[in-house]
Amino acid sequence: TDLSHIRNFSIVAHIDHGKSTLADRLIQETGTVQDRDMKAQLLDSMDIERERGITIKANTVRIEYKANDGENYVLNLIDTPGHVDFAYEVSRSMRAVEGSLLVVDSTQGVEAQTLANVYHAIEADHELVPVLNKIDLPASDLDRVAEQIEDVIGIDASGAIAVSAKTGQGIRETLEAIVTRLPSPKGNPDGTLKAMLVDSWYDAYLGVIVLVRVIDGRLKKGDRIKFLSNGTTHHVDRVGVFRPEMEPFDSLGPGEIGFLTASIKQVRDTRVGDTITHDKKEVEALPGFKPAQPVVFCGLFPVDNAEFEDLRDAIEKLALNDASFSFEMETSAALGFGFRCGFLGLLHLEVIRDRIEREYDIELITTSPSVIYHVYGRDGSMIELHNPADMPDPATIDHIEEPRIKATILVPDEYLGDVLKLCQDRRGVQQDLTYAGSRAMVVYDLPLNEVVFDFYDRLKSVTKGYASFDYQMIGYQTDRLVKMSVLVNDEPVDALSTMVHTDRAEQRGRAMCEKLKDLIPRHMFKIPIQAAIGGRVIARETLSAMRKDVTAKCYGGDATRKKKLLEKQKAGKKKMRQFGKVDIPQEAFISALKMD
Ligand code: GTP
Repeated sequence: TDLSHIRNFSIVAHIDHGKSTLADRLIQETGTVQDRDMKAQLLDSMDIERERGITIKANTVRIEYKANDGENYVLNLIDTPGHVDFAYEVSRSMRAVEGSLLVVDSTQGVEAQTLANVYHAIEADHELVPVLNKIDLPASDLDRVAEQIEDVIGIDASGAIAVSAKTGQGIRETLEAIVTRLPSPKGNPDGTLKAMLVDSWYDAYLGVIVLVRVIDGRLKKGDRIKFLSNGTTHHVDRVGVFRPEMEPFDSLGPGEIGFLTASIKQVRDTRVGDTITHDKKEVEALPGFKPAQPVVFCGLFPVDNAEFEDLRDAIEKLALNDASFSFEMETSAALGFGFRCGFLGLLHLEVIRDRIEREYDIELITTSPSVIYHVYGRDGSMIELHNPADMPDPATIDHIEEPRIKATILVPDEYLGDVLKLCQDRRGVQQDLTYAGSRAMVVYDLPLNEVVFDFYDRLKSVTKGYASFDYQMIGYQTDRLVKMSVLVNDEPVDALSTMVHTDRAEQRGRAMCEKLKDLIPRHMFKIPIQAAIGGRVIARETLSAMRKDVTAKCYGGDATRKKKLLEKQKAGKKKMRQFGKVDIPQEAFISALKMD
């Protein structure tokens, strides 16, 4: 296809504003997929994504469209991941296309996540076409939302297209706008091959499938190609496109988006944003490439020690398909053998943990998530601390730096006070506060460690779900940080140690001890629960000894209640770990860290 008849685009939207439904409708309208093959939400391939209603892996589809000018166009849609954890992947997908549809639910309005992705699109020099979705709903308010797009995002919304992805209204107009308003790609068909690695994933039959955008030259079956970042070379066994099923082609030219396979065994060898060229040829690398860097770490241990090898197997398999997830073996005095794992963010952590528990049926203990601290020694050395358990002797430490983020929160007026309080409680420094209609946009500089645990949950709960949130890393800053240990029955439980700010240590310690007191079942003896910094105890609770008959508190003859209680105890048993003489239930490791 010649360049003037190609349009490459992505869809920018907040979760639930209708990105997948719109994509499905565009595919259906152009007859790319026969109606009978149409299953809802074609682009969300993994079950877990569908269940959680989020798109994790970038996907793509090639659509052929006969426009009103009578010409046939190739439209390539790249679907971008919709979550802050995957900001780098989003930025790369955006670089692979020339324009975006900006989909906003016309019953809701612009959200923080929309804003973050719009910035990626603007950075990538995109032409933006605003699409106001869900006009079939009575609450749809086109004028208000168009005005908001102009106020908050600062782009012209006069040409916004009114769409119902549900009824199909406005879909033709959207396709026409893609052809007439988005620019065609540029590229040199006779130049040296230069392609961008947009995404990759593992397929059991084909090996690693690489999604590429060709910039210059041609990529052909049988070519010998080279990845610039690591210099590895591969023999291309297939090239093709997605419609959305894979369809083989002989070659892909400039402006085209498709896949290649080259008997690559590990996703790790294919890095998002990398530049691909022919072996023995030289091209300049595409700007902005960086290998994925995990920012949140935690330990994953099997509840049942005998499942360690199964866990290793599960983690290795998952890592095959996820280059941004890192792991190494870890031993903990309390928990035995497990893995220290690195993630792009909390959602990423949750997805991996869920998959291990669900797909591999291994029950896990997750230790407290930690960010990477920079610990400077008195001798001028610096270590990157991923695990509070590895904290060096405080006497040797000069100072500690922690990562900070810039958080953007959009919230209806009436909840603003609660949001400001939450950010303040989390050691935030306010940077900006502006209004757009009845909503406020707040920008805070916050320590990442105050956000990784339950910030998002808290934000949702104080705003009844009406706030939206997005963040980006801004760098490291020195602060007064210390390691807080937890002792249960006088034994330190390393998996519960955390880094805390000196000013909050006591409050945190107290909250943690109180929580643990509720979470740990009574034993036949008294159990002291303490929080300590160095050798100094800063909080203490005592769990009193159990009464002889656990069911004594159910009065009289209520047999079913008695039975229930005993069953509950039995079920609880399974998920416990022994620490010295004390059983600690699995959920204690996470719940104890949640701050109210
Ligand atoms: P993620 O994949 O989670 O990012 O969400 P999404 O933006 O892809 O949203 P999705 O397409 O899954 O739509 C969210 C919900 O809105 C679904 O229940 C859709 O059926 C519904 N929806 C989408 N478009 C329309 C529309 O035009 N009108 C109405 N009434 N509902 C719509």
